[in-house]
Parts: sequence; C-alpha cells; structure tokens
Amino acid sequence: MKNLVDKLYENKNLDREELYALLSNFNDVKEYLFKKADEARKSVYGNDVYIRGLIEISNYCENDCFYCGIRKSNNKVCRYRLNKEEIYECAKKGYEIGFRTFVLQGGEDLYFDDDLLVEIIGTLRKTYPDCAITISLGERSKESYLKLFEAGANRYLLRHESINKHHYSKLHPKNLTIDNRVRCLQDLKEIGFQTGAGMMIGSPFQTLENIVDDLMFLKEHNFEMVGIGPFISHKDTPFKDMPNGDVELTLVVLAIVRLLLPNVLLPSTTALNTINGRNMGIKVGCNVIMPNLSPNNVRDKYMLYDNKISSNLEAGENLKSLQNELNLIGYNIVIDRGDYKNN
Ligand code: 5AD
Repeated sequence: MKNLVDKLYENKNLDREELYALLSNFNDVKEYLFKKADEARKSVYGNDVYIRGLIEISNYCENDCFYCGIRKSNNKVCRYRLNKEEIYECAKKGYEIGFRTFVLQGGEDLYFDDDLLVEIIGTLRKTYPDCAITISLGERSKESYLKLFEAGANRYLLRHESINKHHYSKLHPKNLTIDNRVRCLQDLKEIGFQTGAGMMIGSPFQTLENIVDDLMFLKEHNFEMVGIGPFISHKDTPFKDMPNGDVELTLVVLAIVRLLLPNVLLPSTTALNTINGRNMGIKVGCNVIMPNLSPNNVRDKYMLYDNKISSNLEAGENLKSLQNELNLIGYNIVIDRGDYKNN
C-alpha cells in the first residue's frame, strides 16, 4: 500500500483499481498518506490557512434533498432571509476582523433573483475591492451565473454530491439530476469562476466505488476548490435514522484529494468539526476554514444536520482563538484573499 501512496504523490494520479485498493485498505498506510498529503499541501501553500467568512443569507429552499435539514418539506424549520443591509453589516464586521473572502451561501431561494444578487455583489465589490466574493446558491442558468460573475463574484461552490446517477437519485428527488449539476459546473468554469465541487462521505447508500468515481470526477475537472465532509443525519429528514459518515474515511479521502490536486483549496468543513475532526483536517492536507459571519440570531436556523456548530471556534468573532489553536499544531491563519495558486 505504501507504494500506492508514493505513486499517488509522484504522479498526482492513480487508476480506478488503485484508488479502490487504497480506500479499502487504508488502515496500515493512513499515517503515511496523511504525512504525504501534508507535504504536498506545504509545497504549494506552506503553513498558511485561508479563512472565508460564511454569510448564510437564506434558509428557504426550493429543493427537497433527502439528507438536508433545510429541505423544502421540513416544516419545522424557522425560515429566515437576510436583507441587503444585514448582509453588508456581516461583511463589514468580517472585514474588520480580517476576512478577505465573503461566501454568500443559502438554499435555492427564488427571492434572491439575479437583479437582487447583482446589486448585492456589486455593492460588496465596490466596498471591498481587495476581497474575493464566493457564491454558493445552487443551480442556476448560465445567463444567471454570467450576471453574477460580471457583477464581481469570483468563485462558486456547488457540490456535485455524487457523480453516480443511481446513487445521486437515492439522495435527491426526481427533479434534480446529476446531468444538470455537471452542466452548472461546466458553465461556471467556462465563465471563469474558480469553481468548487465535492461530496459527503458516508451518505446513505454510498459505496467505496462511488467515492472512487467521485475522486476521478474531481481529478478530471481539476476543480480549484473541493468541499468534502462527513454525512451527519438530521432528525427531521427521511435519512434521520441513517448512520453518520466516518471521520477516518473522511480524512483519508481529503488526503487523497490533496494528492490528486496539490493546488486545490480544500476546507476542513464545519461538518468535520461537528464530529471533532477540524484540526485533523488541517493536518491531512486541508488549507481553508470557513467560520460563520451570519447574524447571531439566525445561526441556529441554518441547520443542515443535527448539532451543527456555530459557536466558539466556528464563529467569525473568535478568530484569535482559532489562530491560537492552529499555531499550536504548526499552522497560521493569514489575512489574504487566498486565491487558487496555479503553480
Ligand atoms: N450532513 C452533512 N453535510 C450536509 N450537507 C447537506 N446536508 C448535510 C448533512 N445532513 C452538505 C451538502 C451540501 C452542503 C452545503 O452541505 O453536501 O452541498
């Protein structure tokens, strides 16, 4: 197995069978894999950890994804949306703390139409010319993506969730298809966004073969950003009784992604932190953390899964403690846009 890790490190690639072998026998080799992933990350990004200020603009959602706590048919959710001024206030607070990337994330909420988003993005672009603007608002038309880009957005996050049609259909209602998801990702790339895809680890019905296919998809499209965290069940969804994803397997997949795509911007996700793996994520190749900048009174309403953390080190206000914690393990938060490095 060690030779597979070496081969992955050297070639930045493995074939399907090799990826499968690594994923199914990671126990003997995982420490070595983690070490090589950390090396790969350090050769491109050093010890730097980039921070992104997450602004959760709406928990209304048109979609009914079976895993997600803010799915349309969950009528227990107390729904909210931020107005323009509230969003600008979050950005202002974030900028003062040291954030140079803002991520506008939300459910697919038709209230945020192109005109409104163009106005918000345009205002942020003018007010903070030195900041990156990331959008994470789901599937839209190419025309819409283009408008957001022209208004000043730089990056777009849209997890593909599963590249396998059959598995995708077990996670989503019929009106959502992997074909349209891939179309969106291609449109985003063509327009010029730094684009992020990704998936959950341990989502219901996911097999190791599915993860292999997802890894090959991420490699093939050479995404600038990849979001991966464990599946965590939410009590008011059809998957309420499904087991959570495994932390170890999540860390192994993150390390493999770092070796397949050494330049990738890879967050140690809130979901991973929820099951106490955030520092581990950073040690195995992650180089991004996305603390929460949403107004305090809505933080507990953006519950994609049970026990999602929004306090302490997940809170944007507590950057100093986060910095201290990362310093202890040899990493350093930088005040920087943290763009994708091409070489
Ligand atoms: N557990 C973990 N991650 C989840 N997401 C949605 N619901 C859950 C859950 N129950 C992830 C999805 C989505 C991202 C915003 O959050 O992958 O793309």
